[in-house]
Amino acid sequence: MRIAVIPGDGIGKDVTAEAVKVLEAVSRLSGVALDLVRLPWSADHYLATGETLPADGYRMLRDEFAAIFVGALGDPRVADNRHARDILLGTRFELDLYVNYRPVRLLADRLSPLKDRTRADINFVVFRENTEGVYVSIGGRFKAGTDDEIAIQEEINTYKGVHRIIRHAFEYARTHGLTKVCMADKSNAMQQGHALWQRVFKQVATEFPGISATHLYIDALAMFLVKDPGQFQVIVTNNLFGDIITDIGGALQGGLGMAASGNIHPGRTSLFEPVHGSAPPLAGKNVANPMGAILSAALMLETLGRKEEAARIEAVVERAVHEGCGTPDIGGTLGTKEVGEWIAREVGRG
Ligand SMILES: NC(=O)c1ccc[n+]([C@@H]2O[C@H](COP(=O)([O-])OP(=O)(O)OC[C@H]3O[C@@H](n4cnc5c(N)ncnc54)[C@H](O)[C@@H]3O)[C@@H](O)[C@H]2O)c1
Repeated sequence: MRIAVIPGDGIGKDVTAEAVKVLEAVSRLSGVALDLVRLPWSADHYLATGETLPADGYRMLRDEFAAIFVGALGDPRVADNRHARDILLGTRFELDLYVNYRPVRLLADRLSPLKDRTRADINFVVFRENTEGVYVSIGGRFKAGTDDEIAIQEEINTYKGVHRIIRHAFEYARTHGLTKVCMADKSNAMQQGHALWQRVFKQVATEFPGISATHLYIDALAMFLVKDPGQFQVIVTNNLFGDIITDIGGALQGGLGMAASGNIHPGRTSLFEPVHGSAPPLAGKNVANPMGAILSAALMLETLGRKEEAARIEAVVERAVHEGCGTPDIGGTLGTKEVGEWIAREVGRG
């Protein structure tokens, strides 16, 4: 399997190096032939060449690779973050990666930021619509920079877009033996676009009679995620709301360094990345937590059909957390490399 590896910027490079060690270890152990092809696309590359990604970059990713692994993108030297927009958002849109898949699982009770909440309470997945909403950049500014400025940013909701993400959430519940799907919108205040979410959710729910379909307004969902996260199994929501609540999810599972994600178009080349950004102040200091990146590599293997190998990596990461093998952000004393090497060694042990 040919995998495009884009370490990117800042700690993206640090954590990707460790995820690659773990992928190599699993490959040696299981005999899955992984051809990890490193692509230099990053702020350094952009500043040196003026190119964010090559003209046929999206086609190359789509046609020549089974999956894409990204570290993180973002660098203060590129003020408008143009390279990050082209590489990350561009790939999401061009490859139509409409499912943003974010599992939220607490690996050890001590990492919970909530009083008296344990691993039994924090174990759910969020499906965020990834190609529409307010992130499509339709709009404009009139009389910009004056006191009469008008700024318009449209939210796009299509039947096709809403239907496929909601259906994916129900399908996931069914194939994983789960019984509850919660859809969150703001249909009380956003009565046009979110009426479509209401209609489609009710329609799709009728096709899954064994699954309880509930609805919450997004503000209520944010409150319940903190107050009683144990009630959730599968959450589906739009692009903006999903962006925000998955950061709450990251906090619930012990911080951004622990959180993994997939940007998926089922059956096609998809992109996997830790949820965190490039954290420039931590870059190159051997302190970034590589677990979110390593768990993202496991999600990639799971999506490529290598469920056993994915489960093996997840189990070793969980054991690392329990045995106190971690970076300072989760109360450990080890560096990025030491954690990555520990996990790679244990994964490779079989
Ligand atoms: N998907 C992406 O590539 C992505 C996502 C978010 C932000 N960004 C970009 O990253 C840059 C920095 O953004 P930011 O500071 O808002 O977010 P960030 O995720 O980089 O950092 C936020 C905080 O979390 C901590 N943190 C993040 N990842 C960590 C890890 N693995 N281990 C330990 N601590 C970790 C950092 O110290 C920082 O305090 C910006 O350029 C932003 O645009 C990229």
